[in-house]
Amino acid sequence: MTLLNSEAVKLGSLTLLLAPAMSRTLFVTTALPYANGSFHIGHIMEYIQADIWVRSMRMAGHTVHFVGADDTHGAPIMLKAEAEGITPKQLVERIGAERPQYLQGFQIEFDHWHSTDSAENVELSQDIYRKLRAAGLINTREIEQFYDPVKGMFLADRYIKGECPKCHAKDQYGDSCEACGAVYAPTDLIEPYSTLTKARPVLKTSEHYFFQLSDPRCIEFLQQWTSGSNAQGNKHLQAEVLAKTREWLGSGDEKANLGDWDISRDAPYFGIEIPDAPGKYFYVWLDAPVGYLASLKSYCAKIGLDFEALLDPNGTTEQVHFIGKDIVYFHALFWPATLQFSGRKTPDQLNVHGFITVSGEKMSKSRGTGISPLRYLELGMNAEWMRYYIAAKLNARVEDIDFNPDDFIARVNSDLVGKYINIASRAANFISKYFDGQLAYPDDAALLGSNWAQAADRIRTDLEAREYGRAIREIMAHADQINQAFDAAQPWLIAKTLASAEPSQRAALQHICSSALAGFKALSVMLAPILPALSQRVATELFGQTSNFVWVDAGLLPSQINPFKHLMQRVEPTMLDGLFEIPAATQDQQPAGALTAASNLADASAVAPGGEPLAPIITIDDFVKIDLRVARIVNCEQVEGSTKLLRLTLDVGEGRLRNVFSGIKSAYTPEQLIGRLTVVVANLAPRKMKFGISEGMVLAASHFDPTIDTGIYVLDPSSGAHPGMRIH
Ligand code: 2FM
Ligand code: ZN
Repeated sequence: MTLLNSEAVKLGSLTLLLAPAMSRTLFVTTALPYANGSFHIGHIMEYIQADIWVRSMRMAGHTVHFVGADDTHGAPIMLKAEAEGITPKQLVERIGAERPQYLQGFQIEFDHWHSTDSAENVELSQDIYRKLRAAGLINTREIEQFYDPVKGMFLADRYIKGECPKCHAKDQYGDSCEACGAVYAPTDLIEPYSTLTKARPVLKTSEHYFFQLSDPRCIEFLQQWTSGSNAQGNKHLQAEVLAKTREWLGSGDEKANLGDWDISRDAPYFGIEIPDAPGKYFYVWLDAPVGYLASLKSYCAKIGLDFEALLDPNGTTEQVHFIGKDIVYFHALFWPATLQFSGRKTPDQLNVHGFITVSGEKMSKSRGTGISPLRYLELGMNAEWMRYYIAAKLNARVEDIDFNPDDFIARVNSDLVGKYINIASRAANFISKYFDGQLAYPDDAALLGSNWAQAADRIRTDLEAREYGRAIREIMAHADQINQAFDAAQPWLIAKTLASAEPSQRAALQHICSSALAGFKALSVMLAPILPALSQRVATELFGQTSNFVWVDAGLLPSQINPFKHLMQRVEPTMLDGLFEIPAATQDQQPAGALTAASNLADASAVAPGGEPLAPIITIDDFVKIDLRVARIVNCEQVEGSTKLLRLTLDVGEGRLRNVFSGIKSAYTPEQLIGRLTVVVANLAPRKMKFGISEGMVLAASHFDPTIDTGIYVLDPSSGAHPGMRIH
């Protein structure tokens, strides 16, 4: 460790000693996003939280390696790629190519972005596994599981549906019933079927590999690690996260409730092969966090750092992970244990945040309440408004935060622009106009500098503790004070009569404006981690600095300014209307604006979701011409002589039944459909077919290319809907 050389700040005759600080080396990550979808606002929130933290630590002189990567493995990615008729690697590459425009757009400055589908990750995951095996912590067991005989693959619970054994609701997932809340094993389902092929799954055994977390060594280590602290005295876990781990680990005499962890999956699987186990792959959650290390390793190779030395288990590098509350189990139990028993460095701090809701509701694209980060940028909305707003809402606890449009407008327009930016725009013009940009302070300048240095130190401490909301409240309270002092001094009155004013009056004007600008500079330093681009402009354009702000700059009173240039626009409330419109095309999938060569590939395939380009835009008037109704399938029969059709008898709530032919025979047996609700085009002209008259059309989803056999899926409304209800 080295002492920072910026501890003593000279302020005129006074030398201000800041608390001695040690330079730290930090390895910081955010959760690796699955590579089967674009970033949503929840990802951006987490990255903003981490990016602010990283920038603040760097401004304090610490060395930070901030890396991310795509989480590429697992069945969902494999199946999505298959459905699109591309390889998983192509899908991963396409999604990877989208990332920079989001990250750059929101000023999120990862040092490196990598992939879990990388040579480094294969090597590290396999090495870790071998070490766990050598430590005697891997065993194998025969597991009986549902298997889709048509697809030829074992089925995770999410790919199995059937009738709830308790309340008999149809089409419930393999682990729990959405209708009555019952929790069960997939084998308890009545009439189970594979959601991939509709085939009835069969039970099949296979050998699985387990990491023996129930081993007393693991339990003991985890009990100790979860309640431990790092070298800085920071707890590894927040209090509420620690409490959660106690439910799993037990405490005192309470027994741990921790089973062994199934880390293998059978082929076909997009993942990393398990050494000495042909046809077996690591479960994605084994190699995903190893991706943190893989990304760092790839970065180290790029910049010439010794990766193993950096993460020496006895070294001083601090390993800090930012994650959401839904993945605590993996990061607070599996991950530290995996690292510990493979002889690697364990994490120093897990920073867990809650979810982001929009106007109090969980985000939902279909209801139009989601915020697409890309749309936000495309609308020309300033990324720093969002950074500021999210920061103002965040604290160090595991709490959900809400994006509320009115609150957003108020905080940006009233606080950020109305209070903070306002200081500079008011004071700078007097200084440029009457004092040629020169600042001068009253006699107590040293005290002014030391006050700002102390305030900045409090903000720095708050940011390190992730109390961003508290930091912003203090910053805005300072902005209020500066504005109040400025108003009370009424500099505009002095300026009016400056030609005939006493020298002391002239000095007073210069002092008032200089003090306000010193305050503005200090606040800009404090806001620099949150508003990086703006603070850079303040540092270089207004104050003529050659480098970006660091924390000690807050206490250094500026001696001159350049003419003030407009710094930040207010939010136009109408912009937010556009933000909440349901995108005509799936904006997330269609990057607009300047595309890199790599993302052109993304664009080309993204315009053909499901193998089919989107149809031309229609208006709502066009849409309402189609009368979609909820229908109950009261009967269903084979159609003799047809290889494709089923005959459906539908109740559309009209007091009569309709006959509809549907080309879904390859996907359903009549028994699977009888009793279900579905959606029908109810005003389609009746059509005479070879087998009879069809009075409507049942809606079903399928891939455009019938040779890509990803199944046919009849639409079904959520339970509670009634026959005859119109779909709007
Ligand atoms: O929940 C998720 O989105 C996972 N892809 C997070 C993985 S974090 C780490 F382990 F890679
Ligand atoms: Zn049920």
